[in-house]
Amino acid sequence: MYSYKINGGKPLKGDINISGSKNAVLGIIAAAMLIDGPCVLENVPDISDVRIMLNLCESLGAEIEYKDEHTVRIDPTKIKTHEAVSADVSRIRASYYLLGALLARSGKATLRLPGGCDFGQRPIDLHLKAFRAMGARSVGKTTNGIITLKADPLRGAKVFFDIVSVGATINVMLAATKAEGTTIITNAAKEPHIVDVANFLNAMGARIKGAGTDTIRIYGVPVLPGNFTYSIIPDQIEAGTYMIAAAVTDGDVTLHNLIPTHMEPLSAKMREMGYTIIEGDDTIRVFKEEDVEIEGTNFKTSPYPGFPTDLQPQAVVLLCKSTGISKMHENVWENRFQYVPELQRMGANINCIERVALVTGIKHFDPATVTATDLRAGAAMVCAALATEGTSYITGASKIDRGYEHIITKLRGVGADIERVEGIVNMNDYDT
Ligand code: UD1
Repeated sequence: MYSYKINGGKPLKGDINISGSKNAVLGIIAAAMLIDGPCVLENVPDISDVRIMLNLCESLGAEIEYKDEHTVRIDPTKIKTHEAVSADVSRIRASYYLLGALLARSGKATLRLPGGCDFGQRPIDLHLKAFRAMGARSVGKTTNGIITLKADPLRGAKVFFDIVSVGATINVMLAATKAEGTTIITNAAKEPHIVDVANFLNAMGARIKGAGTDTIRIYGVPVLPGNFTYSIIPDQIEAGTYMIAAAVTDGDVTLHNLIPTHMEPLSAKMREMGYTIIEGDDTIRVFKEEDVEIEGTNFKTSPYPGFPTDLQPQAVVLLCKSTGISKMHENVWENRFQYVPELQRMGANINCIERVALVTGIKHFDPATVTATDLRAGAAMVCAALATEGTSYITGASKIDRGYEHIITKLRGVGADIERVEGIVNMNDYDT
């Protein structure tokens, strides 16, 4: 188990390149399992969740070949099983996409229930209801967290989601791509990575219309030829994290290779607080003009184009460094303030009442040893430690590496003093 050691209090200055989107590439790797020929993915982020997902696909029989660090050729034509039951399945959330992909490929799928960050309950009932509507039925009992679905055949259906779900939207899109007839998803999620998965599938031969709106129509096709090269979109959450890191260190950072419109939910809020955000075609520069006082504000997380829940912990760090009292309202997950005690150990003044965090601005954080309670909470701890004079340690740092490519190198490139160290123990550490 390793930690990050950060000597903070230095303004970040310079340029950072944004990597490919974690949540897009995980859906797209699963999607590659249902096509009938090879494909090449470019701009694949070098992060541990991707390596786990590729290992899972390899264990199904797919051929995976790294062309270079960010380019992967995937050939699913030799897939020989519909069973994904290894322990790796439980190490990441996105393994649930193999249900939809394998159902589409062979009409059956056996999966160990997925893992991922702990934000309270993370059911997959919406996925299962939709698969049932498409003619899939459970085979046997769900024992030891392993579920088997079979469809003979998988048919298009009308699917209405009463909760907007990113995972269920992508999973149904995957299954419907090769189902007989048309599937209409109503109240679909609209996140950029939903559009990216649909674009990938369409490039491979699928017929998906309306991704990015709340109604998606998928006209099933029998064969997806593949044989295409596809580049993954930039990571909205990685970009947002570095925007916040630049801001809380009073820095001046330009982020490259991103899509500025994807950042609007954060950019608008940061402008409201007093930061200067300058957008180029694929860049964003973040800094604070001299003598501008950063004022607190209120955030509410909600599905895209609302403020992303995956930037909520980092945005709370931003609020800690502003003046006055601010509110963060978490609308997506029932328990996503688990990291607050860690920030409080750094001196943060935060009171949580159910799904609302009341944040009173402080002048500075205190250095401390804190834990990355989950991936994005860990990123928030990094932001806080970078803003703090003195040495802080963030234990459980492997959680951060699930979603941030080369974070140490990128932050050092803009002047941060950050290194990976072994053997730091946090009394409150509950990393497993
Ligand atoms: C994905 C992201 C995660 C992000 C979340 C919301 C991946 C791998 N993970 O997670 O980082 O925080 O979107 O943007 O892309 N729900 C149900 N039943 C279901 C499915 C979801 O009740 O079957 C509820 C959840 O409990 C939650 C809400 O719907 O309250 C949204 O969840 P969802 O969008 O499905 O999140 P994930 O796809 O798991």
